[in-house]
Amino acid sequence: MSVQSYFLSQFNTAPTFSAIAPGRLEFIGNHLDYNGGPVLGSAIDRYVTVAISPRDDNRVVLVSEAQSERVEATLDGIVPLKGAASWGNYPLGMFSVMRDAGLRATHGFNLAVANDLPIGAGLSSSAAIELASGYALSALYGFPVDRKSIAILGRAAENTFVGMPCGILDQGCSSFGKAGALVLIDCTKNEFSTRPMPVGTHFWVFNTQKKHALIDSFYATRNKECMESAAILKSANPALANLSVATEAEVEAAADALGPVRHKRALHVVRETARVLDTLEALVAGDTARVGKNLTASHESSRTLFENSCEELDFLVGLVTALPGVFGARLSGGGFGGAVMALTDGTFTAAAADRLAAAYAAKFGKPPAIFHTRTGDGAALLKN
Ligand code: GLA
Repeated sequence: MSVQSYFLSQFNTAPTFSAIAPGRLEFIGNHLDYNGGPVLGSAIDRYVTVAISPRDDNRVVLVSEAQSERVEATLDGIVPLKGAASWGNYPLGMFSVMRDAGLRATHGFNLAVANDLPIGAGLSSSAAIELASGYALSALYGFPVDRKSIAILGRAAENTFVGMPCGILDQGCSSFGKAGALVLIDCTKNEFSTRPMPVGTHFWVFNTQKKHALIDSFYATRNKECMESAAILKSANPALANLSVATEAEVEAAADALGPVRHKRALHVVRETARVLDTLEALVAGDTARVGKNLTASHESSRTLFENSCEELDFLVGLVTALPGVFGARLSGGGFGGAVMALTDGTFTAAAADRLAAAYAAKFGKPPAIFHTRTGDGAALLKN
């Protein structure tokens, strides 16, 4: 159902504005964003759409096709929610950070969400809801945003309202994505640009549908370990801007001070940064085989140094990289479950993906969800 029809069915009136935002894939640059590194990702051609209209009172009512819980709040009582209502934290978080940034609301709103982007598939449906809600709210209240400010607001909503200490990868890709392109983000300067996707390549995504129960605390722990590592390296080199610009020699010289765990995390960050830079060169040179090698090496580093992989992800990467037509594969996103992304040529078929899914199911009892996706365009307000 279109978001307009869904809105009508829920609120008995047509929406005033609607907006769209895509999911994303992390191409390479695992856990580099909050370390100030360069990351490459892309928007994909699966979207969240949001429709909105004003209310006469000071209430906020949120509905989602994908959620059973209707969320209600008042303008003076916008606080993070728990349990089944917590999906509402993405639109509410956007509203909250936009109001902090100067949006003035004298009346409430009705908002409806429709998804053709699967939730919990490692494709960042949360960033997509944030950006689509952000564009809808911007139109409704006459609060100007652009591609950059909305990505920054989306990250702020995650950090300060949802409570997830993420970087800007997800929101940056959903905002700046372009069909046929990868998104490059310099996470120190918050600079966004695009690079052409290697010609003739495809994305295949295998989602384990496994989400570690402690995923949020694992992510926060990695973030903390990286910040501590940066502080330790900075005591030796006060000019160091962040962990991603440290050299491997600096990390080795500080091995004792770092201790074994932070030493591994820091090595991952500096080597992964080098891999992103090498991937950029390989893309310019049209050397897709080298791009693919970097993808698989990135996974290996996540597995052994950053320790954010799991048996299911490792199994999928091992299987898929042994198949013809596959340039490389890696876990895409936070890790501890979630999805593997493979970069393939046009000879990789759905039949090969199905065989892989069967081998996975024989080992883990349940097949992974398979998506053959393409790069897509970034978030935008829709013409009603
Ligand atoms: C999640 C976060 C991103 C990024 C990746 C790991 O997707 O939301 O900000 O840190 O994990 O690279």
